[in-house]
Amino acid sequence: MTRPHPAPLANPLRALDDTRLPRIAGPSGMVIFGVTGDLARKKLLPAVYDLASRGLLPAGFTLIGFGRREWSKQDFEAYVKDAVTASARNDFNENVWNRLAEGMHFVTGAFDDDAAFDRLADLLAEMDATRGTGGNWAFYLSVPPEHFAGVINQLDRCGMAAQDENRWRRVIIEKPFGHDQASARELNAVVNTVFPENAVFRIDHYLGKETVQNIMALRFSNQMFEPVWNSHYIDHVQITMAEDIGLGGRAGYYDGIGAARDVIQNHLIQLLALVAMEEPTSFSPRRLKAEKLKVLRATTAVGPFEETTARGQYTAGWQGSERVVGLREEEGFDPNSTTETYAACTMQINSRRWAGVPFYLRTGKRLGRRVTEIALVFKRPPYQPFTEGQTDLLTNNAVVIRVQPDEGVLMRFGSKVPGSAFEVRDVNMDFSYSEAFTEQSPEAYERLILDALLDESSLFPTNDEVERSWEILDPVLEFWAAGGRPDEYQAGTWGPESADRMLRKDGREWRRP
Ligand code: BG6
Repeated sequence: MTRPHPAPLANPLRALDDTRLPRIAGPSGMVIFGVTGDLARKKLLPAVYDLASRGLLPAGFTLIGFGRREWSKQDFEAYVKDAVTASARNDFNENVWNRLAEGMHFVTGAFDDDAAFDRLADLLAEMDATRGTGGNWAFYLSVPPEHFAGVINQLDRCGMAAQDENRWRRVIIEKPFGHDQASARELNAVVNTVFPENAVFRIDHYLGKETVQNIMALRFSNQMFEPVWNSHYIDHVQITMAEDIGLGGRAGYYDGIGAARDVIQNHLIQLLALVAMEEPTSFSPRRLKAEKLKVLRATTAVGPFEETTARGQYTAGWQGSERVVGLREEEGFDPNSTTETYAACTMQINSRRWAGVPFYLRTGKRLGRRVTEIALVFKRPPYQPFTEGQTDLLTNNAVVIRVQPDEGVLMRFGSKVPGSAFEVRDVNMDFSYSEAFTEQSPEAYERLILDALLDESSLFPTNDEVERSWEILDPVLEFWAAGGRPDEYQAGTWGPESADRMLRKDGREWRRP
């Protein structure tokens, strides 16, 4: 007799049911500061077009660029069109474009130019009257952090930040959000005196990636992972964000920031929080953030840092078949700079679930290949009934969440090699998004811009999370600042020798993805 299948308990993802329908932004517009920058050209403008192309923007959506160039509306349109044709995900469609272009305007001015901000305020009022934007505006700050306060104070001065019951005003802020905990605090104080926290959307574009959101689905909608997702079964966790590109034209931004501030403080610590947090009681922004903050408060960087961290600068080498220059030869980079392009550190989480499980985080430019992944590496079985010879080639089991490219989830376990002998070797079981689904993943920025317009803040780190992430990383940064030059690693390799030593001393090794 088969038993009746017990009804599952009400599960928290039930709240996501409503979100299966496409969400379309209500009447609104967006002003981009720093619209001529790299990020706007490569990511933000194409994302706006892709949203329009998917029918997710309101009919009167209005896009205003603000910058120093003496551009007419037509010049701005031509610039956006170039950006869209070069980088949008969806094919160029004249109808979509024409509708979007009707609502494009450009305001010429510097960030300290009162008259330019007054003109911007007048333009918003005119757009509200003629395009039905309803007084709802998002201000996207894609500008260097030294300009955040200036722009925000200007928005305040002209009344553009003022909230009222019938309209909303929101600010979307790009990283880097501060340089350390103290500066992040100061910035938050400036932002929060003008915009209430629920109107502030700090971008960490990794949270907009489908595979990153899937961490929650994987962990909390299934039964098979959570029971082993703890220190009883997991030996350690490796979080890797490797890039094959060098600094390219970004030396000006990167010098003085470096790999840890650029990637570990935000993207990797956010990944750690999602992998390590407890199950939220619901997926509302407030509950989700409470769990993330809780796990971040339990996280610290482990010392002694000369053994538990590593940093490096790339030297000339080969990237595939291309000969590439070293960091010091990159245009615009100060050859004496101590800014690292590779950073690795060890974190621990002081909780019942994770005590004794190191989280190794690493990121770098000009590494072997572009890959972002989270690998949960299991302990060895407590008893191995096979002989050493039979299991020589068997390594630890692992669950690997592949964030990009080849998005998916991989499980590594041992399997008998076919044949009359008995030998067990590693095999991979692979789930790939592109094979399992026909839908294409939207770009992270599409998701995040839409969410900001919809007032959906789950995927945006709060002021507390940002400050806590700096607090975790600051001791490592201070240690490095006192330490002179980083080690070297050859372009196209997997980082400096010190990074390998760092794991070897724990009897472990980095994955070579
Ligand atoms: C950005 C960093 O946040 O992320 C860049 O500032 C990095 O240095 C980029 O290249 C990588 O993003 P993605 O989405 O290509 O992994």
